[in-house]
Amino acid sequence: MSHSKSALHLLSALIISWTTCTSFYMAFFNVPAGLKLAIVDLNISLATLFIPFLLLIRPFVRRLFCLLVCLLTVTLVAADEPSGNDNQSNEKWLEPARSRLMHVNGGMPFFPHRANTTGNLVLNVKDFDNAQVCGACHTEIYKQWRSSMMSQAWDEPIYRALLKRASAATEGKVDNFCTGCHTPIGLTTGQITSEINRSSIEDSAKNHPMPGVDCETCHNISARTGLDNGAYVMSPRAHGKPTKFGPRKDAVSPYHDTVYSALHTRSDFCGTCHNVTHPFSSVAVERTYDEWQESTYSLNDVTCQSCHMPGFKGKAAIMGPDREEVASHWFSGANAMMLKHLGQEEGSQRARDMLGRAGEITFQQLPAVIIPGQYTSVAVKVTNVGAGHKLPTGFPEGREMWIDFRVQDANGRELYRLGSIKDGKTEENTRNFKVHIGDKDGNPLDVEVWNATQILSDNRILPKGYDIGEFSFLVPADAVGPLTLTADLNYWPFSQKLADYLLGKDKLQVEITRMANVTQSVPLATSLSVVGPDTRHF
Ligand code: HEC
Ligand code: HEC
Ligand code: HEC
Ligand code: HEC
Ligand code: HEC
Repeated sequence: MSHSKSALHLLSALIISWTTCTSFYMAFFNVPAGLKLAIVDLNISLATLFIPFLLLIRPFVRRLFCLLVCLLTVTLVAADEPSGNDNQSNEKWLEPARSRLMHVNGGMPFFPHRANTTGNLVLNVKDFDNAQVCGACHTEIYKQWRSSMMSQAWDEPIYRALLKRASAATEGKVDNFCTGCHTPIGLTTGQITSEINRSSIEDSAKNHPMPGVDCETCHNISARTGLDNGAYVMSPRAHGKPTKFGPRKDAVSPYHDTVYSALHTRSDFCGTCHNVTHPFSSVAVERTYDEWQESTYSLNDVTCQSCHMPGFKGKAAIMGPDREEVASHWFSGANAMMLKHLGQEEGSQRARDMLGRAGEITFQQLPAVIIPGQYTSVAVKVTNVGAGHKLPTGFPEGREMWIDFRVQDANGRELYRLGSIKDGKTEENTRNFKVHIGDKDGNPLDVEVWNATQILSDNRILPKGYDIGEFSFLVPADAVGPLTLTADLNYWPFSQKLADYLLGKDKLQVEITRMANVTQSVPLATSLSVVGPDTRHF
């Protein structure tokens, strides 16, 4: 009898120490979520097995046993927390953090992309529905998303042309990287290969259809582990059945579980993909989130969603309740050109409207009269009034804004122009706003972003910021007054030259969007009113 009792005590002591150690270990160290769940399961089984013996053992041990149950509860709660949470709020992808991640077993399963899944497992294609399925109930939202760039993020021509080159030039090193943001489900379900990345849009759509950034991508994100390079955690079936993470606490759906996610209401949700860091050289390739974070918009809680997903009155789902504000899914940005090419007229027009709201252009202190035969200077001010990040932001090889400045005389003769297009590019010395990236020797890179090791220059306009620049021109003596001064503020998502280079000559006609414009008429001084040393008649 006493023999079996001391055996029991030994067993209980063992179980208690095991549970204590594992709980503490899991609380303080990074354990892959899959392993965590397995340990919790084991602990629960051990505790359950132990219950019949509970009545046999001494009160002291019984008290210890209670402690064990408490510890278990803590472990459970800790394990239920999706791996990677919001604690590391401003963590950039610093070198030490990356090395640490790589050494955690399976910590970066899709290296060099930062995507994660619960348990670091490759996901099952069957866990994801086609967006059309969601569209059956979420009709309005589906229609909006369909005409956005993100729905086309995988199979739009400029991306695929560059991906093909990037994949070949790096011998596949960046295959995971690009696709983790442009087809997150394609990557996390293990479908990506170099062959697919280098195939044509038609071939891959036929043989390996994969979505861009779709409903399932965003609404299966349960957490994030950082703030760039796609540091999201994808958790389909987080609770056994299809689970959608969204902004509402009161959403009920017959088709899926709904889980409230504060993350979805915040900018750092978008920040996981809208901050791109070169995975090997750490160059900050795109920084839309950081630009926003450092602006007054973030201080005043004006989020990406406020501007890119404004609410509309209606229903989020056909059988759902009427709501005052349903988050829209147009995701209007600036790529009017590509949306037009893809046949999305409404999305395209919305992008032009966004651009129209973003920038303002004005003349500063125009001269009252212009004197023929002399140089005149005109200051032009460009203000970022509407974009919550730099203007322009994003894709550095392409995005460019510039001033097209012209002076005409009364006969329609062009006296001066700076900012026209020559050889598919803005002409030399154009006053443009763009970031320039460079390689290790300081050469500017127009295409091969994978060779980037530095930012050469960046004169894009900060949120609520402005730029004032001068144009200086000679007015010929025979000009006929009055003169008309015009300044257009123009934008294109990439130059005609880049489009021709990537897709072949004249495959894609790049559209220039005129964001804003100012025109003013200035009289010419007559010879009598010319102010000079010999104007003695005054
Ligand atoms: C059979 C109809 C139906 C289908 C199919 C459907 N949903 Fe829903 N869903 C609903 C209803 C109803 C609601 C609740 C709407 C409300 O409360 O306004 C909802 C709510 C949501 C929410 C909001 C959750 C929250 O907590 O804020 C998200 C996100 C969502 N669905 C995503 C999806 C996705 C992604 C798909 C496709 C895989 C999908 N739904 C398919 C009916 C459906
Ligand atoms: C105050 C409103 C506002 C906020 C806040 C805002 N944006 Fe924008 N965004 C705009 C406007 C206006 C444009 C169009 C002009 C432009 O290209 O910048 C735009 C353009 C964009 C573009 C396309 C840029 C290009 O040239 O390709 C992206 C991408 C984008 N926003 C993402 C974001 C993300 C991500 C956030 C949050 C971190 C955000 N925006 C916050 C207003 C906003
Ligand atoms: C780029 C990520 C992204 C994509 C793609 C996306 N959503 Fe959303 N969705 C969000 C975010 C973020 C919110 C919350 C916005 C907010 O609260 O301001 C949201 C909100 C919702 C809501 C709740 C709306 C409300 O206000 O009640 C539903 C329903 C929904 N999405 C369904 C869908 C469906 C269906 C699709 C595909 C057609 C889709 N989403 C595509 C990010 C996305
Ligand atoms: C899973 C990654 C991912 C997430 C999360 C994400 N985006 Fe995007 N987004 C992309 C990619 C990739 C593109 C570029 C698609 C293309 O042009 O090929 C894009 C494009 C855009 C554009 C269009 C830019 C243009 O040039 O017109 C806007 C606007 C935008 N995103 C806003 C948002 C907002 C707002 C959120 C958060 C609610 C968000 N995105 C979350 C990956 C993401
Ligand atoms: C961390 C997420 C992320 C990664 C990784 C990423 N991108 Fe993108 N990409 C984006 C976002 C967001 C945009 C949209 C920015 C904007 O609108 O200016 C974009 C835009 C683009 C565009 C412009 C598309 C157009 O139609 O104008 C191209 C091309 C592109 N990416 C290619 C690539 C290639 C090639 C790689 C791999 C070397 C890559 N991207 C890696 C997020 C990413």
